[in-house]
Parts: sequence; structure tokens; C-alpha cells
Amino acid sequence: MMSSLFYAVTIALMVSCSVGKVIDLSHKHGPKTFMSIPGNPGYNLTSLSKGDSHFGVYVELNYYGTSEHSGTHIDAPSHFTRGGMTLDELPIELTIAEGVMIDCSKEAKANHNYAVDVQKLHDFEKTNGEIPKHAAILFYFGWYPKFDDEALYRGTPDVKSTLSYQYPYVSFEAARWLLEKRSLRTIGSDSLSPDPFQINGRASGFPIHILYLPRNITIIENLRDLDKLPPRGFRFHFSPVKYVGASGAQVRAYAITTPEGENKGAGLVHMFTAITLSLTVLFVHTLL
Ligand SMILES: *[C@@H]1O[C@H](CO)[C@@H](O)[C@H](O)[C@H]1NC(C)=O
Repeated sequence: MMSSLFYAVTIALMVSCSVGKVIDLSHKHGPKTFMSIPGNPGYNLTSLSKGDSHFGVYVELNYYGTSEHSGTHIDAPSHFTRGGMTLDELPIELTIAEGVMIDCSKEAKANHNYAVDVQKLHDFEKTNGEIPKHAAILFYFGWYPKFDDEALYRGTPDVKSTLSYQYPYVSFEAARWLLEKRSLRTIGSDSLSPDPFQINGRASGFPIHILYLPRNITIIENLRDLDKLPPRGFRFHFSPVKYVGASGAQVRAYAITTPEGENKGAGLVHMFTAITLSLTVLFVHTLL
């Protein structure tokens, strides 16, 4: 009887802990991708060979180049820190984190210069529980559908004039609260940056970059599909290549949901399946 109970519990646990859903959070990176810093050279894919090769088989080989800070990418600490960690020095552990998605799309729709404040973080915690330590905090502004239109995404037709950019961002006070009270590991958003380029027409000075990067808290910019995430219950992955000396690079950012993050319907189905399976196993064992 004890051993059958053991089997039942094991199966129930296995079913309810089944592998989560993978959600891609990255833009394509190509010749049409604009560079976050105007004037930086864009994506360059140049064919080195294509066709029947001297190996006797069909082969394609390309050279590629692109500026670091563009598309869905990571900022390494050295981006805003003299002598800071470069990509090749970034420990792999710092590129995976428990994720939190904070939906600010209503506020950003009403105000294109919306700045997330501390109250918004309190409100999130009231509904979703305390933000865990060492998490990746992702802000969904409903901004990523504009990504293919540079003027819309930067919030100005004058795309080279950084002091005219208008898009939602995270206030310095909220960023400091996340650092001091919740020891975050990384911050990300579906906009150009969690920092604004300008506040009331004056250069912002990138306060979050200056607060976070020297502390090895990374920044992930230009994410997409953040609305496909649950507020809690996923792991966020954002590992770049170990380019030597690099201050940033494109990442294939993605999330894997945990049982907590799967939608309630799926959770109930899992639980129902688990209980049915366990009871069947128990029943079969009592017969044997
Ligand atoms: C792209 O890279 C190739 C190979 O290095 C170079 O010859 C070419 O000039 C580059 N094109 C542009 C537009 O930078």
C-alpha cells in the first residue's frame, strides 16, 4: 500500500511539473533594423561563398557585422562603467533570472511619456505578491508593435534628434526602489530603453544605466511579445555570445513558463490529469 501511494505521488508530481511553454521575446535582426544610437552602422551580412563549393557540396558562408546597441540586445556593465565587465566576462548565471512582467500598456497608451513610479510597483505587488529577489523585471508598455516604424517607435519624425524622443520609461525612483528593496538582477522593456533620452527636452543622463550597470545589473532593450507572458511564473533567458571586449550584443531573449505561470485553465487540467492518473495507479496496485 505504501509503495503504491509513493508511485501515485511521484506521477502526480511529474505531471504537474511538466516542462513549460517557451515564449520568444526577440525581434528579428536584419538590414531594416534601425540602430538605437542614430548614425551607428547597421546590420551587414556579406556573402563569403554560396553554391557548390570545393568541398563538393552546397555551402553558404557569410560575414556579418552590426552595431552592438540595436535590436533586442543586452547592455553589459562596461557600456556605462569605466573598466566594467564586458560580455565575455559576464557570468552565465547573470543571464538567467526568474521573471516578472509588469503591464503598463494602459498608462503608456494614455501618455507616451509615461514614467513607471513606485506606486505602480506597489500596485503590482498587491495583486501578484512580492517581487522575488534577483529577478528580471520586464516592463510591457504595448510599444513593440511600433518597432518596424522608427518614427513611431522613437515618438518623433525627427529620428536623429535624441532630445525629441518620446516613449514610456521607468522613473529613477522606481528603479532605485527595485534595486534597494528587491535586489533585481536585470531590467527590460519593449521600448528603446528603460531610461528616457530626454525629460522635458533636457538630456536625461541615463540615470538607470548609471545606477545599475556598475552593479552588474544588466539591461535588455527592445523586447517584444511581453504581453504573452504571465505577470509571474516564468524564467527569463537572455544570453549573448562571449564577444571579447564587447559592451553589448543582440540576444535571443525568451521565457520558459513554470507551473505557477501557466494559465489557470491549463493548471486545473494538469491537476485533474494528475489526480486521475494517481487514482488509476492506486487502483491498479490494489488489484495486484
Ligand atoms: C560589409 O562588410 C564587408 C566585409 O567586411 C565589407 O566589405 C563591406 O564594405 C561592408 N558593407 C558596409 C555597407 O559596411
